[in-house]
Amino acid sequence: MPDVPDASNAPPRLLVVGATGVLGGAAADALARRGDAIFLAGRDRERLASAARRLKAGSAPCDAYDLDGMAALPRLAAEAMGGLDGVLVAIGAVAFGPAEETSAAVTEHLFAVNTLAPIAVLSAALPLLHPPGTLAATTGVVAVRPQPRMAAYSASKAALSAWLTAVAAERRRTGLSVADLHLPHTDTGLAGRAVAGSPPPLPRAAPLEETVDRIVAAFHPEPSAGGPSAGGPPGT
Ligand SMILES: NC(=O)c1ccc[n+]([C@@H]2O[C@H](COP(=O)([O-])OP(=O)(O)OC[C@H]3O[C@@H](n4cnc5c(N)ncnc54)[C@H](OP(=O)(O)O)[C@@H]3O)[C@@H](O)[C@H]2O)c1
Repeated sequence: MPDVPDASNAPPRLLVVGATGVLGGAAADALARRGDAIFLAGRDRERLASAARRLKAGSAPCDAYDLDGMAALPRLAAEAMGGLDGVLVAIGAVAFGPAEETSAAVTEHLFAVNTLAPIAVLSAALPLLHPPGTLAATTGVVAVRPQPRMAAYSASKAALSAWLTAVAAERRRTGLSVADLHLPHTDTGLAGRAVAGSPPPLPRAAPLEETVDRIVAAFHPEPSAGGPSAGGPPGT
């Protein structure tokens, strides 16, 4: 449990993992604009340092293949901010192509980045969150509507989604809010950074601001919001 209790009107103290990416970076900016305290984590050290300077935020580098390092992030964030109220995990990698052409190494990579690393961060955050706390992760519509030519990506996101669902049930009585963000396809360039294959025709992209609003709403729910799992066109 964090040492400094949260006053009811104090801004939430949030860890954003994947703050070097398009969605994670834009969400960190939007949350900071609302006055939230942010601690950033990301793989690309230059982009991480630049985001930390811009937001005057603490930061730590991370790599999905270092699960102990991923699990250490919530503690680092809580120490830097005097407590922790929520975590957003927005790291991810995609691959395309028919299942028989997707190598075991690519599938392993997708599960490392999309499933194992997020679970390492989020489970390490559970004992540190100031109650009730919020956990959010960018799974995508593919977690509930797996897409052809994206079998391994869809499966890795569905696995994270199942983990989030089980944790939400475990923690229901504590009031923990768990946002399984079934984000629609959004033109962030992610498809062009695929680790294998080339994308099939993708649905029309949702505007970036709308997708970022969905992420922000996980931490600042509005009465009129459709909720984090409202869906949309599939894709990445
Ligand atoms: N764009 C979409 O249409 C869409 C739709 C639904 C869900 N999503 C999900 O939203 C999240 C953000 O995607 P995005 O569109 O913003 O793409 P992005 O800009 O490429 O962001 C991907 C993020 O994942 C990080 N990452 C990749 N491999 C990593 C590794 N081995 N270790 C640590 N970090 C790693 C990247 O870090 P560096 O940049 O520092 O290397 C970056 O921060 C992903 O989980 C994605 O699956 C995206």
